[in-house]
Amino acid sequence: MFSELPALPEDPILGISKAFKKDQRAQKIDLGVGVFRTPEGLTPVMQAVRKAQARIVESETTKVYTPTTGAPGFTDAVLKLVFGADSEALSAERCAAIQTPGGCGALRVGAELLKRTSARRIVSGAPTWANHTPLFGAAGYALEMIPYYDAAASAIDFNAYLAAVKKLGPQDVLLLHGPCHNPTGADLSRAQIDAVFDAAKERGFLPFIDCAYIGFVEDLDADAYIVREAARRLPEALITFSCSKNFGLYRERTGALILVGETAERADALRSQAINVARGNYSMPPAHGGLIVAEILGSAELEALWREELAAMAATVRGNRQLLVDAASAVGLGNRLSYIAEQRGMFSLLPMTEESVTAAKERHGVYIVGAGRINLCGVHEGNAEYLAAALKDVMGQ
Ligand code: LMR
Repeated sequence: MFSELPALPEDPILGISKAFKKDQRAQKIDLGVGVFRTPEGLTPVMQAVRKAQARIVESETTKVYTPTTGAPGFTDAVLKLVFGADSEALSAERCAAIQTPGGCGALRVGAELLKRTSARRIVSGAPTWANHTPLFGAAGYALEMIPYYDAAASAIDFNAYLAAVKKLGPQDVLLLHGPCHNPTGADLSRAQIDAVFDAAKERGFLPFIDCAYIGFVEDLDADAYIVREAARRLPEALITFSCSKNFGLYRERTGALILVGETAERADALRSQAINVARGNYSMPPAHGGLIVAEILGSAELEALWREELAAMAATVRGNRQLLVDAASAVGLGNRLSYIAEQRGMFSLLPMTEESVTAAKERHGVYIVGAGRINLCGVHEGNAEYLAAALKDVMGQ
């Protein structure tokens, strides 16, 4: 039976870490998988997480199953964080959530839930995160692409994007990125988000907003604009929330699927559907990460510490952007990479081809995803110059 199953190539993002580890060269730079890193290349456990974890280990009395909605307190805390304590949608109980195994779990449960509705298509601006296509494909949706980012101009082609968005209809789902677009780092402005939601109102399509980096621009509440506006202005939305990056809980697989319905009854019904999808798949999410998040957000002291640490990570990434831009102009790349300083979050796309990505790896030990996505967390004072020189070599004049 298994003879028909060929070995598959490595994952385009996760495979980079493996290749990087194998590389024996002393001078190498990992700009691959989206994790925060210190200049020493470490991804430390946040202090707030350490403290919360210690409290949990001390007080936990059982490992009995949690409900399919997740660790006690998790979803309430996440909803309050995402929408803000004074959200009208929250007080009207139009927002429900279940904890999921990471943001991926939330996307998959959301997609399977959509399969139970009249949703015909899921549409995304191009390019999008490499895993969106297989993930939605596994749920039965061939992700359809519309124009978003103009690589030649290193900017969003909003006219082309909005024109395509305005053609969507009530059986369509528009996949949107929360803050820190992956892979481009080019986020919609507030005015552009408003225009997309005007179109959603007019045309009746459903926004499915994938939020893996809330808090990574600079301010958590400002970063939540897109989801708060969706809940305030639209009758329905699906939202994913990942705790991988902002809580540094990558391996704990902690996330949430947030369901916004027109009424409290609809939100309740949606939650029961999501529970049913999850039960038929993994039954319930792993509890540990959810307990940590609930502990942090349930303690004023830990939440303040966490917000401080998150803001510091975001500031580091912003600083790394500037480091690369300065180093690029110092090695003679002129303004070619200056757009990077304006973009947001961990990623930007370099003007590269697959050949130049391969050359960067082979000639300089610089590991870049796909056709030019870099994780700015891999840049620091000690390697910015080397990196800029390597990029100049492979990108040409
Ligand atoms: C990334 O885009 O690098 C991260 O979201 C990690 C992943 O799972 O791909």
